[in-house]
Amino acid sequence: MRERRAFAALLSFLPLMLCLSGCGLLGRHASVPEYVFTYAENQTSDYPTTQGAKRFAELVRERTGGRIEIRVHPNAELGSEVSSVEQLRFGGIDFARVSLSTANVLSPKSIVLQMPYLYRDSAHMWSVLNGEIGQEIMASFDGSGVVPLSWYDAGVRNFYTVSRPIERPEDVSGLKIRVQENDLMQDMVRELGGIPVPLPYEDVYSALQTGSADGAENNWSSYEAMRHNEVAKYYTLDEHMRVPEMQIISQVTWDKLSDGDRRILRECAEESARYEQSLWQSRSDSAEEKVRGEGTVVIVPSPEEKLRFRQAMEPLYEKYCGPYMELIRKIEAVD
Ligand code: GCU
Repeated sequence: MRERRAFAALLSFLPLMLCLSGCGLLGRHASVPEYVFTYAENQTSDYPTTQGAKRFAELVRERTGGRIEIRVHPNAELGSEVSSVEQLRFGGIDFARVSLSTANVLSPKSIVLQMPYLYRDSAHMWSVLNGEIGQEIMASFDGSGVVPLSWYDAGVRNFYTVSRPIERPEDVSGLKIRVQENDLMQDMVRELGGIPVPLPYEDVYSALQTGSADGAENNWSSYEAMRHNEVAKYYTLDEHMRVPEMQIISQVTWDKLSDGDRRILRECAEESARYEQSLWQSRSDSAEEKVRGEGTVVIVPSPEEKLRFRQAMEPLYEKYCGPYMELIRKIEAVD
C-alpha cells in the first residue's frame, strides 16, 4: 500500500521534472543533444583524416551549443568505404570521409579530379580544389544522395610490392595489384599489364601476406598506418595519382537541418579540412622515415621511366574523360 502511494507521488512529480529538464533548469549537463549523428572513417584514430573528423565534431558541438553531437567511428567500424557510401545514401550513416575513388560512382564527372599525372604537384591540386572547379565538382553530386562538404588531403599514390621491385612500367606486367573497388583504378593496373585485385582497404594487409595480391598502391601515410611495409617492402615513387578525399553528409540528414545548421556544418567542415591539410605533410614525412628505418626499399624511377608510366596511363583519359576534356584542359591551365 505504502509502496503504491510512493509510486503515485513520484508519478505526480513527473510532469514537473520533464518541464524543468526541458527548460534546462535541472543543470546544463542534463541537456540532451537534439541530434546525435554518426561519422564513418576507415583510417586509424591518429591518422590526419580522423584527426580532422574529430576537430569537425568538436567545432560543431561548440558552435551549436551542444545541440548537434557527431560520433566519429574510425577503423572502418561502420563498414568498408563502399558500404559506408551506400549507407549514407539511405541515411543509415550521417557523415563520412571517403576517398574520391569511392565517391566518384555518384558523379561520373568527379573522376576528372583523380586522373593519373593530372596535377603538377600538391599546390596545383589545392588551387584546383579550392577554386571554381572544386565547387563545380561538388555541385555535380546534386541528386546523388550525398552532399559534399569539404576536400581533405591524401598525398600522392605509389606502387609497392612484396617480392620484387617495380622499376619500370613493364615490371607491373603479370603482377596482382590490389586496387580500390573502382573501374578506373582497375583499368590503370590493366594498362600496365597487371591483374587488378579490387578489395576494401581493411583487407589489403592479409591479401599481401597470403599472396592473393603481389602488391598494392597508396600514399606513405596509409602504407605505414596499415603496416603494409611489414609485408611489402619495395616502394616505388612513380607518383601516379593524387586522389583527393571528401567529407560528405547524407542527403537524408541534410534535409532535416535548418539553413543555419547547414551553414555551421559547412564552416566547420572547411575549418577541419584546413586542419587536416596542416597535419598531412608532417605525417607523410614521419611515415616515410619510419618505414625506411624498418627496411622499406625505396625505388625512385628516373624522369624517363616516370614519363613512360605516364604515357602508359594516357588511354585512361579517353576512356573516362571523353565528355570532360575541356575541363581537363582547364585544370591543367590552373596556376
Ligand atoms: C587511402 C584513403 C582511404 C582509402 C584507401 C584505399 O588510404 O585515405 O580512404 O580507403 O586509400 O586504398 O582504399
